[in-house]
Amino acid sequence: MSSPNKPWPGVIRRYASFLPVTDQTPVITLHEGNTPLIPVPRFVEKIGGKFDLFLKYEALNPTCSFKDRGMTLAVSKAAERGAKVVVCASTGNTSASAAAYAARAGMQSVVLLPKGKIALGKMAQALMYGAKAISIDGNFDDALRIVRELGETGIAEVVNSVNPVRIEGQKTAAFEICDVLGDGPDFHFLPVGNAGNITAYWRGFKEYANAGLSDTLPKMMGWQAAGAAPLVLGHPVEKPETVATAIRIGNPASWDGAMNAASESGGSIRSVTDEQILEAYALLARTEGIFVEPACAAPLAGLILATRAGEIPAGSLITATMTGHGLKDPDTAIRVSGIVPIEVAATKEAVLGALGL
Ligand code: F0G
Repeated sequence: MSSPNKPWPGVIRRYASFLPVTDQTPVITLHEGNTPLIPVPRFVEKIGGKFDLFLKYEALNPTCSFKDRGMTLAVSKAAERGAKVVVCASTGNTSASAAAYAARAGMQSVVLLPKGKIALGKMAQALMYGAKAISIDGNFDDALRIVRELGETGIAEVVNSVNPVRIEGQKTAAFEICDVLGDGPDFHFLPVGNAGNITAYWRGFKEYANAGLSDTLPKMMGWQAAGAAPLVLGHPVEKPETVATAIRIGNPASWDGAMNAASESGGSIRSVTDEQILEAYALLARTEGIFVEPACAAPLAGLILATRAGEIPAGSLITATMTGHGLKDPDTAIRVSGIVPIEVAATKEAVLGALGL
């Protein structure tokens, strides 16, 4: 008899028929995926929307970001080929995920990080999982260029999304959304950095529809930070800058995939300012109790703009990916909250006094 509480098997085993795996592929999994799709009616009311919004809370993956979906596949395929070392460039989350899955597989990970621009929690993760961390005196785009060159030498397996299996794994998030809703949404909002994820979601929604498992194809609504918005400007940005360090990228690897997702779906890729990002970041935490890292607030800020512009028809079904956990970037959270705990003596009277009661 099968157990009613059988553990979720991870995205490779759950969606094997849609993925480039065989019975011979060793499955390196931390049981990623199956993340909650959370309705956020208070947030919608607050921004004046007349639609249903569900957040795909990818922060609840094993390393607290969506990267684990692609990494389980990338590291499994690397293991299948007998690789001993994996390498990636990262704004933080890819490195945390690569390091964790490499540890799980008994491999060495090497992560190239833009100096001084990695959120604290992500750095802690990579170091704890045993990565060889290299701080590059440059940005993500510089690090990715070096990683591509290292990949060509054959000394390490590249696990950035230039490795096509990463995108394959990431598309499983779109499958899960359709499985829970019983169909695709009308719109899907998400942040865009290196542009792998928007490419992956669009592929996932299309494959599910082609397989007869959903009917609706969403309009793909991608959002970049204004200081790092090459896809909006139509040319690479040499010195990208944004508080949302996860998407501080000037020359996305999946440029064509992202533009195609937006145009083919009837959606768009646009930008929001850091100020708008931080406003949405705090609003979500305070109205719904959902703490995300700043990059995730880009699509929420975008949704606020689209709502105000009357672009979202009443009754629409909207989903948005919350790609990473708020605890990844505690420095930004503490700075943005602007609140300093009140220090008092250890008495009830002192606490009541501090509360003004
Ligand atoms: N949100 C978060 C939290 C991310 O870490 C990233 C990318 C994105 C959104 C953008 O996704 O690149 O597929 O368009 N982080 C990469 C990294 C670049 O190195 O962790 P994308």
